[in-house]
Amino acid sequence: MGNSFGKLFTISTWGESHGGGIGVVVDGCPPGLPLSEYDIQPDLDRRRPGQSDITTQRKESDTISIISGIFEGKTLGTPIAMTIPNRDARPEAYAEMKDKYRPSHADFTYQAKYGIRDHEGGGRSSARETAGRVAAGAIARKILALAANVEIAAYVEQVHDISMPPIDTDTEADNLPTREQIDANSVRCPHPTTAEKMITRIKKMQAIGDSVGGQILCRVRNLPVGLGEPVFDRLEADLAKAMLSLPATKGFEIGSGFAGTLQTGSQHNDPFETRDGKIRTRTNNSGGVQGGISNGEELYFRIAFKPTATILTKQKTITTEGDETELIGRGRHDPCVVPRAVPIVEAMTALVLLDHHLRHQAQNKAFRFD
Ligand SMILES: Cc1cc2nc3c(=O)[nH]c(=O)nc-3n(C[C@H](O)[C@H](O)[C@H](O)COP(=O)(O)O)c2cc1C
Repeated sequence: MGNSFGKLFTISTWGESHGGGIGVVVDGCPPGLPLSEYDIQPDLDRRRPGQSDITTQRKESDTISIISGIFEGKTLGTPIAMTIPNRDARPEAYAEMKDKYRPSHADFTYQAKYGIRDHEGGGRSSARETAGRVAAGAIARKILALAANVEIAAYVEQVHDISMPPIDTDTEADNLPTREQIDANSVRCPHPTTAEKMITRIKKMQAIGDSVGGQILCRVRNLPVGLGEPVFDRLEADLAKAMLSLPATKGFEIGSGFAGTLQTGSQHNDPFETRDGKIRTRTNNSGGVQGGISNGEELYFRIAFKPTATILTKQKTITTEGDETELIGRGRHDPCVVPRAVPIVEAMTALVLLDHHLRHQAQNKAFRFD
């Protein structure tokens, strides 16, 4: 059903927030890739709960075990199964939510669709599911970096109404922030003075039992020309699907996005030029994709995340029987999901790009008839 992703490099995630554990099966990984838990754990550490005072205080080490698909430190080309145990589940905090629907969470829709739901920690609707995606994404990222030197950097650009100064994609295209710069503060905004303001806002919301959302910018460098399969699997269409498959997302825009509607064609077009023997564009309003295919410029896109649904403030809702009631969220929650969403966005990006890389090779590079 909806639990698998990708065509040639595929992943299937499994697990619930408060069940025995969570994990992923990766299929289609090229054989011979040196791989161990050490390649994957650093990305999971960036996603795990309890990593700072502005995230949920659930304490999980999210220690990954690879249980198949590897022999003598290298991938076999067979399915790679990875598991992460759930160690700090506290189902009692969710007792009230068995019979009451949290506003703007998945409780009502899961119940209405399936007629049964795991209310503990939100079951599978919990962002805990995304740990499997991050584990798989670490493999995809390693292959992309080794094979094509592709670099992916996502970071928090906005929290609530606090934004970092806009990047100049013309002059700063060659300056992706490093992981060290992004992780230098707990909100993962590489602009230190803006980061401080964001952290203060999140803490303020946390203190009053409320929440805020924000925006993540993801940038990709060294992407080859040719990724993306028109018409339905345009690169931006598959990226949009990948990003909007993440919980709490409400928007996706690529390149100039919605702001581009305020420009004229002559302002918006990216003029071609030859630079260092390559066909390039002088500006990059396209965001690195034209006609649904990567054009070799920096790929960049933004994702909007809503304020966390579960808040520790009294809200009106209804019971599963349809009676009016009130609910104060309990359990441990992120007052703002965007700092922890950064590694998840990077992982989904790597998965889409590697899948399209393999598909491009298969269709256009595997055979030559001239
Ligand atoms: C990294 C991350 C952490 C999240 N943490 C929480 C949380 O602590 N509490 C909560 O209610 N929702 C959290 N969410 C969002 C819910 O999983 C999501 O709102 C819910 O599944 C309903 O889906 P929807 O918001 O996409 O409609 C988180 C999302 C992400 C990406």
